[in-house]
Amino acid sequence: MIKIGIAGARGLSTVMGLRAAEDVEIAALCDLDEALLSEQSKKHGIGRTYRVFEDMLESDIDAVIVATPMQCHVPQSIAALEAGKHVLCEVTAGVTMDELFWLCEAVEQSGKIYMFAENCCYLPHCRLVREMVRRGMFGTVYYGEGEYLHNVRSLTTYPNGKTSWRKYWQFGKRGSFYPTHSIGPVMQWFEGDHIASISTFSSGRHYPETGLRQDDTTVTMCQLESGKLIRLRVDCMSNRPHNNTSYQLQGTKGVYQTAQDLYNGKDLVWLDTMDPDSAHARWHDIEEFSDLLPERYRNATPEQKQAGHFGSDFFLVEDFLHSLRTGEKPDIDVYQAAEWTAVGLLSELSVENKGRAMEMPRFRPNMPWDEKAIRL
Ligand SMILES: NC(=O)c1ccc[n+]([C@@H]2O[C@H](COP(=O)([O-])OP(=O)(O)OC[C@H]3O[C@@H](n4cnc5c(N)ncnc54)[C@H](O)[C@@H]3O)[C@@H](O)[C@H]2O)c1
Repeated sequence: MIKIGIAGARGLSTVMGLRAAEDVEIAALCDLDEALLSEQSKKHGIGRTYRVFEDMLESDIDAVIVATPMQCHVPQSIAALEAGKHVLCEVTAGVTMDELFWLCEAVEQSGKIYMFAENCCYLPHCRLVREMVRRGMFGTVYYGEGEYLHNVRSLTTYPNGKTSWRKYWQFGKRGSFYPTHSIGPVMQWFEGDHIASISTFSSGRHYPETGLRQDDTTVTMCQLESGKLIRLRVDCMSNRPHNNTSYQLQGTKGVYQTAQDLYNGKDLVWLDTMDPDSAHARWHDIEEFSDLLPERYRNATPEQKQAGHFGSDFFLVEDFLHSLRTGEKPDIDVYQAAEWTAVGLLSELSVENKGRAMEMPRFRPNMPWDEKAIRL
């Protein structure tokens, strides 16, 4: 039996995926908020509760799901790894570049599994495009876009009127502070490539009444080691309908773009096999290719589809458990977590310095000490 402890009792988006596995027990729940802890543990039938994270680590759990505020992710992940527990950690991976270097070292020293819970990589349309890229249907892909457009200013205050961590650790920062939902799936389409440098520009600050430090909208250009390009836009400030899973991909033989209207639109694709005259070609609905989706998506039960974020949270947990059982490298490992998170951390420095290019460290096993640096 794999025993899991969850830290952060609010969303509990992983519970459905954990419950579906016969060899898994959600053994413990941890949260500083006593009332929430009691309510959620009763609701989900979780036997043991802890207010102190370190106390939960003393118990016999095998793995921890870290779903606490972002600034807790690295301290709690490292503590868990040092206690011999595997970790599934929420986004983003950390809040400083040094934390990302510590995290990579801690994973290497522990020999335990660390998986990054970037659930957008598990969205059905992102998986379908990944499959089509692997089959070469877009030819050589060379340009991608990811956008996170979601006015979540209200989350800087909790319903009880108290200030939330988001006021400082998200909206208190400049640059593309929440990059991984957008950059993660796109980087998976550029499999094997890495970000070499980033430059970030912003549109300024047009909601000064909020008192928040975050720019309205930021655009980060990511130059890949191969010379290819990804554009990232993060906007959690602007007044507009939301679209937090917006992507584009351009290859020599085809192009993909997500619907502008998240709920009513269609994801579109054009491939040169459809109509070789690309100058006059028309878009097709990507649903025409849905039989290329991995089998578990095609055969997903209604319950699985109802798991958080269009079912993505279900499949993410399934892959984490697979790694625990087999010891295989997780689908999204600590080096990908660090690279995608670093896009946001480096963008803070870039945007404050007129878009100056920031070099991305090449996160990999046993990185030399002198490469663990922030270079302009
Ligand atoms: N992947 C996604 O789509 C997605 C969506 C929402 C949130 N998140 C991530 O999930 C995490 C939590 O976000 P949230 O919206 O639930 O935040 P929240 O502030 O609503 O809830 C966080 C919970 O953690 C508890 N907590 C805080 N510090 C703690 C500590 N040291 N030990 C134990 N418990 C502690 C709080 O009491 C609270 O109940 C964040 O990292 C966020 O980025 C991810």
